[in-house]
Amino acid sequence: MDNKKNRAVVRVPGTSANCGPGFDCLGVATTIYNYLDLTLLRGSKIIVESKGEGAENIPRGRKNLAWQAVRRLLQEVKREDEFKGAIIRTKNNVPISRGLGSSSTAIVGGLVAANEILGSPLNRQELLKLATEIEGHPDNVAPALFGGFTVSVMDKGEVQTFSFLPRIKLKLIVAVPDFELSTRLARKVLPKHISMKDAIFNISRASMLIAALVEGRADLLPLAFDDALHQPYRKKLVPGMSEVFEAAKNAGALGAAISGAGSCLIAFTTLKSGLEDKIASAMVEEFKIHGVNSKALILDLDRRGAQIMKR
Ligand code: HSE
Repeated sequence: MDNKKNRAVVRVPGTSANCGPGFDCLGVATTIYNYLDLTLLRGSKIIVESKGEGAENIPRGRKNLAWQAVRRLLQEVKREDEFKGAIIRTKNNVPISRGLGSSSTAIVGGLVAANEILGSPLNRQELLKLATEIEGHPDNVAPALFGGFTVSVMDKGEVQTFSFLPRIKLKLIVAVPDFELSTRLARKVLPKHISMKDAIFNISRASMLIAALVEGRADLLPLAFDDALHQPYRKKLVPGMSEVFEAAKNAGALGAAISGAGSCLIAFTTLKSGLEDKIASAMVEEFKIHGVNSKALILDLDRRGAQIMKR
């Protein structure tokens, strides 16, 4: 059998969800990428080889998340009896369990690669539905799939996403601490109910954030990245969080937030400001004061989402 025609290589961007006030609905694709090389096999062997970030901890065999996504797609298009196994090779640059969407890259990578091999039976909206079902919320998988800045709405299990390119050229500065944070734990610390006051705090900022990005109004952004729904509760999980936000803003950032469920913190500035290095150093230094070693990534917004690199 010719394995080559059952092979596809996909590049998927790391993502930052929430962007401050948009808990579980806003996300942005960034220019840090994971690569997934998939070959579908007719036999039931699963071979997983990983290189790069967290490679030693990536499950091999059937528990592998990319395989689970591939398997889900095969079931959806009723081809699971034809392809029972796979060779999955990944090269990972996105830090694991840090709030940069590494699990979404595996899910989206598996779905997009398998879909390509099978002749694209599903469109991107259908892939988004499967990816959201596997991940549990859309705010990482949507930008991983579509690129750009994304707004996602869930309604009775269906997801609708609007993806756009802001009219402001953003620079994203991510401070990556040397500790992992599980999304499960970071969701466990959240309250079941919130006050009307906090809801209004977030609705107003999330709305302002999108309006300012769509219209190119950087002057409105300093109001727009704050949050009252999740960050105050997650603060205890990331030592120095508020102080790192302040340090980033003092160095000229327009705003700062937890990236996804953490542990990374992300700050936003414009390309025009030229302040990204200064902001990066300020964040790393402030983390250090709070006993946290970190490294900074200076990223741009990814415009394209998941891309087929080889077929
Ligand atoms: N919106 C999610 C959260 C992102 O903050 O828990 C984590 O994947």
